[in-house]
Amino acid sequence: NLPQLVRLVEVGPRDGLQNEKQPISVADKVRLVDDLSAAGLSYVEVGSFVSPKWVPQMAGSAEVFAQIQRKPGVTYAALAPNLRGFEAALESQVEEVAVFAAASEAFSQKNINCSIAESLERFVPIMDAAKQHGVRVRGYVSCVLGCPYDGDIAPEQVAYVARELYAMGCYEVSLGDTIGAGSAGATRRMFEVVGRDVPRERLAGHFHDTYGQAVANIYASLLEGISVFDSSVAGLGGCPYAKGATGNVASEDVVYLLNGLGITSGIDLDKLIAAGQRICQVLDRANGSRVARAQLAK
Ligand code: HMG
Ligand code: MG
Repeated sequence: NLPQLVRLVEVGPRDGLQNEKQPISVADKVRLVDDLSAAGLSYVEVGSFVSPKWVPQMAGSAEVFAQIQRKPGVTYAALAPNLRGFEAALESQVEEVAVFAAASEAFSQKNINCSIAESLERFVPIMDAAKQHGVRVRGYVSCVLGCPYDGDIAPEQVAYVARELYAMGCYEVSLGDTIGAGSAGATRRMFEVVGRDVPRERLAGHFHDTYGQAVANIYASLLEGISVFDSSVAGLGGCPYAKGATGNVASEDVVYLLNGLGITSGIDLDKLIAAGQRICQVLDRANGSRVARAQLAK
């Protein structure tokens, strides 16, 4: 009994592009977001209101928000690591933000320069302000299936951070395999443990594809009753604080998996492939989606 409906959270414009070293124009970012909404994505993570010293590529997020065509029914979200980021997001009329914590202490320090406990405290005023302004907050937990610095991570540690985020008011908690080293077995065990503390319909899977396991991990998650997945068109990305990690699972590959299972996502695969191919040409980068490459070679 797999879910009949799956929602994809498209993170390409944020998780994908944040790792690109070359300058990308606001116009190209806007075009990507608009192409994605036109392809039927109902949720697009557009950018981040973080320190430009930490992630220079996201510095233009306000401009991108100002220029996108907001399609009714589509959620356009942004990352906010602190109250300052939240306020900047509000100024850009962002209707949903995401806070991000980690399951490992070392990654928390490298990514947001504070401990896990400090990060959770820092999110409380964001939650309060968000409530006041009617902004929904999503939570991320990184390194749920391993950390580039601390190695193995216990599912109980993931459950602790996920539970805290859910308790403080995150309507959904996305569990991130930041280094993309997870396997299907580890994925099932992790959801089994976290699912005791947070309802499964409030959990999402966020898989990077470093070891080529992301589609298998999504299938394993579906078997665990998870029905929301983060993905990145053309498999864009990596993580600036996880050396060697590749991009997120390609959205095209996830849609192909879902189509084959008869699961509805509302996404037009051909339009999605065209959106991915366009941004790859802009970036002069090979398309990271196996499905896109195969379809384009026909
Ligand atoms: P810090 O250095 O401890 O903070 O960084 P600070 O308060 O001392 O500020 C440092 C500087 O940043 C100051 O500027 C602040 O004004 C400025 P200066 O005085 O030096 O000129 N600053 C800001 N500027 C713009 N917007 C803001 C902001 N806040 C401070 N909101 C901080 C702490 C959290 C700010 C920093 O570590 C940071 O920005 N980190 C973000 C890292 C990031 O974006 N990582 C990638 C996203 S997470 C991810 O990819 C994982 C995920 O995909 C899931 C998965 O795969 O696992 C979600
Ligand atoms: Mg990520």
